[in-house]
Formats: sequence, C-alpha cells, structure tokens
Amino acid sequence: MLKNNQIPPGNFGLPVLGETLAFIADPYSFVKQRYQQHGSIFKTHIAGRPTVVMVGPKAVEFVLSSQMEHFSWREGWPDPFKVLLGESLFLQDGEEHRKNRRLIMPALHGPALANYLTTMEEITHSYLKKWEEKQEFTWFSEFKQLTFDIASQLLLGTSPSPQSVRLSQLFTTLTNGLFTINPLPLPFTKFGQAIAARNQILEHLTQVVRERQQNPTKDALSLLIQARDEAGNSMGEKELIAQAVLLLFAGHETTTSMLTWLCVELALNPEVMQRTREEQQQLASQGALSLEQLGQMPYLEQVLWEIERLHSPVGGGFRGVIKNFEFDGFHVPAGWQLLYSIFVTHSLEEIYPQPDQFNPDRFSPQRQEHKQYPFSLIGFGGGPRVCIGIAFAKMEMKIIAAHLLRRYDWEILPNQSLETVRLPTNRPKDGLRVRFQPR
Ligand code: HEM
Repeated sequence: MLKNNQIPPGNFGLPVLGETLAFIADPYSFVKQRYQQHGSIFKTHIAGRPTVVMVGPKAVEFVLSSQMEHFSWREGWPDPFKVLLGESLFLQDGEEHRKNRRLIMPALHGPALANYLTTMEEITHSYLKKWEEKQEFTWFSEFKQLTFDIASQLLLGTSPSPQSVRLSQLFTTLTNGLFTINPLPLPFTKFGQAIAARNQILEHLTQVVRERQQNPTKDALSLLIQARDEAGNSMGEKELIAQAVLLLFAGHETTTSMLTWLCVELALNPEVMQRTREEQQQLASQGALSLEQLGQMPYLEQVLWEIERLHSPVGGGFRGVIKNFEFDGFHVPAGWQLLYSIFVTHSLEEIYPQPDQFNPDRFSPQRQEHKQYPFSLIGFGGGPRVCIGIAFAKMEMKIIAAHLLRRYDWEILPNQSLETVRLPTNRPKDGLRVRFQPR
C-alpha cells in the first residue's frame, strides 16, 4: 500500500553537504543507526544528491534483481569513481554493459580459470619464502603486493618486478581518491593525486595493451583482445585500457581485505584455526594442491563465508534511480541516488543471530543461516551483475589460505589496533602486524 505517495523517512541534513561527513566518517554506524530508527528504506543526502538507502534481503533483491531496470550504475557512483575508474564495465549500463560483460566473462571463468592455478601457486610460494625470511611484517601491505602480482600476471600477463611495486602504490593513491568529500583536482588534494596516479597507470597500461596486441599471451587481457561480440567486433584500444584498469583495481584491493581479516580471525579463534588446519592436513596427505582439492574444502568455505559476512570488503553499492519506484509503500523519484547496504544487511539479528560474533558454524550444512532468504549474503553483490571476479577471487583466497594453513604459524604482535577501518578499503587499523614461521 502506498503511503499517500510519501517519500521515505529520514533527513537530508545540511544544505549542500547533506549528511556526507557523517557517512564518510563511519558508513556502517551511519546506516545502522538510521535503519534502527526508520527500517529498511530511508532517505539522506550524500555526495551532493538526495539519496535513498535500502537495507535487508528484500530491499537488496529489489535493487539487484527483481526491479533492476529502475537503476543505473553510471548514474549512481559518485563523480570520483567516474573520473578514476573511467569507461569500464563498472560504470556501464544496458546493451553496452551486456556486450562487454560477455566478452570479459570467459577470462574469469571455466577453462581459463583452471589455467591460473599454477601461476597463483608460484607467486604465493615466492611470498611465503619472503615472509619466512622476514619473520615479522605487516600483512595488509604484503597481501596487497601479492594479490597485485597475481592480478597483473594473470589479467595482464606482466611478471612481478620492481615496476609492479610502483604500480601497486599508484593504485593505493587512486583508491584513496575515490571517497573524497571535495573532489577538487588540485595537486595537493587526494583527488588530484589520484588523477595523477591514474594517468601514470594509463601510460603503463597503454604500453602493455600494445604489446599484447602484437604478441597475445594467455592472460585475461589477451583473451579480451581476441574476443569478438555477436557481430564480430572487438574492443577498441581505449576501452581495453579502461577495462584493464578496472580489473586490476577490483582484482586486488578486495581480496587483500578478505585475506587480512581471514588471518586475523584464524589467529583470534584457535579452535577454528585447528579445524581448518585439520581439513588441509587431511587433503595434504592425499597429494599436492589441485583443482579437485580446491572443491573439497567445505570448512574453509564456511570460514570464508563468515569473513565475507562480518568483514565484507565492499560496504554497499550505489545506483542512480532512472525510473520512479515504490518500495514498502514509499515513493522514490527518478534522479535520486540509491545505496544498498552490504555491511548492515550482514549484521541483521533476524538473519544472523549474535551478528557481531565470528562463527563459521552459522554456515554449516545444518544451519545455513544465509539460505533462509535470498540476498542475505551479498559480499560479492548479487543478481545478473554479481561480481564478475567471484570465482577468480575465491580460487585465489583458497590457494593462499591452503598453503598458509598447511605449513605456517602466525601470531598477532602486541601493541597494535585491530579496530576496523572501512574506507577506502576495509582493514584492521594497523594493517595486522604478525610474527610468522614455518610449523
Ligand atoms: C574478495 C574479492 C571481491 C569482492 C568482495 C568483490 C565485491 C564486488 C561487489 C560487491 C560487486 C558489486 C557492486 C555493486 O553491486 O555495486 C562487484 C562487482 C565487480 N567486481 Fe568484484 N569483488 C571481488 C573480487 C573481484 C575480482 C578478483 C575482480 C576481477 C578480476 C572483480 C571485478 C569486478 C567487476 C568488473 C565488477 C562489476 C561487474 C558488473 O557490473 O558487471 N572483483 N565486486
């Protein structure tokens, strides 16, 4: 029933600024408090636009699946995303998006993925050796380098080198520019520095794309260069570069976040560590890690689901409302911005009892708390535009976790904060400093 054409409850906050500052300071508490006050749909004003926030499986299903034609990605993401991530899949809609997603899909699924196992393992081994020698280090930045090397090798065909350290740092600068309050492109602002970083990344990727056009190898970029759509057309150079920036960006920031939290929770929960280790030791006794073995780790999968739920790397997704819609009796006009919340959907007590507790058993075959309602576990989004890298990311995280659990011990060093920092990438505040050694 429509409540007299009422717009959702909530506040627009200050003129111009709206409630942007409070949102950026702590996006989780911001949405949670308002959800507790107003329920699964409320209004606010973020990044210069009236915004409707939607929370919970029913609302998320509406946005990601059943009514997705009301929403645009391009019109949704705040301006810094458009400038910094360019004309890539992430910001495309309709036919253009459908065509490009079909071209990119094969590089991240099925037989292509099976070819990636050895490379993922080789790069992981080189880091394990380095960590053994170092003994003490900050894991967040190490994982960032490791996942970046894997992404550049498999997605672009570029081998790890001192150059990749520089590139990964450029991506950090780019990421820092995504959530700026005032996107002024000046040399001393985070946004200005992010644009400069993007330009250097583009310069490098232009070279890489040209090399791959001459000599295609086995990476995702080469597959893209050779891909043809239904009409026999291939992607232009500019577009290839834009998609390559996006794949590199999306392909390592998020995985880094989940791997770091995985290592925190395993260290803090010895009984979970013990069970994941036993599963790995059992598999190790049958032979080396293989594709088949990756499919035989049900408990590690539960642990990864719990990390996705409790420490989701992405807090939510923005959309532009392109057609008026009604939800739960409220009316939302075209032109507004929409945010669906992953963090808060994952924290709802009615779906996940004692939601603040880390407990992989909630995903045991008997409990399956995420199966009560569709769209309850949405760390990778959902519906037709679910994360295109989900299989790649899960494979990578399992390989790294399996090797860590089979052969290494780690402990969290004292005098550091593990408090959650959510933007620009979800991580423990001090990045997880550990002591690391072979078992
Ligand atoms: C732990 C790892 C990852 C997480 C948690 C994650 C999360 C997400 C989420 C939540 C979305 C949907 C956003 C929305 O609905 O607004 C998404 C989309 C996307 N992700 Fe991932 N992602 C991960 C890894 C990757 C990897 C490895 C790649 C590429 C190799 C990737 C590429 C993309 C792309 C291109 C999209 C846009 C898809 C489209 O619109 O069709 N992601 N990801």
